[in-house]
Amino acid sequence: MSDTDRELRVSKIRNGTVIDHLAAGQALNVLALLGIDGSGGEGVSIGMNVPSDKLAKKDIVKVEDRELSQSEVDVLSVIAPEATINIIREYDVVDKKRIDRPDAVAGVLSCPNRNCITNAEEPVATRFAVLSDGLRCDYCGEIVREDEVAEHLDVT
Ligand code: CTP
Ligand code: ZN
Repeated sequence: MSDTDRELRVSKIRNGTVIDHLAAGQALNVLALLGIDGSGGEGVSIGMNVPSDKLAKKDIVKVEDRELSQSEVDVLSVIAPEATINIIREYDVVDKKRIDRPDAVAGVLSCPNRNCITNAEEPVATRFAVLSDGLRCDYCGEIVREDEVAEHLDVT
């Protein structure tokens, strides 16, 4: 299979956002984190375990007719710090957004500590400080390591 054929495993889009160079296995987590499940009617294409030059295998997500905001991109950094975000207009890449790790994320992860106030009967919204290798609950200090983040995503 030529590189061009591989590229065409997921077609080009006219308008929207391409989230590229995701670590293999992260595509569905990215969609969950962004709250994208197709119910909004937007076109969503997913490539998993696609051959890549930079990574042995990568995942790629293309969302049509939606341009991710910088704050959405920053939240993505929690699970996909190495991803490239391309904004597409009329088939052209008009912007490549850098991913900056935010200092804190709110309402994205649930705290694994069952006694945490964020898991109480009338819970307060979660808030985690972003560390170099994980996140720390602002309320109870519980640490979620980077490789545990996906399983604690607070998405419905
Ligand atoms: N892309 C797309 N639809 C378009 C234009 C680009 O789906 N109309 C996708 C490409 O397939 C690629 C990503 O957007 O996965 C970035 O496109 P481009 O910058 O042209 O590719 P590269 O130069 O390979 O990107 P990078 O340098 O980030 O690897
Ligand atoms: Zn907590």
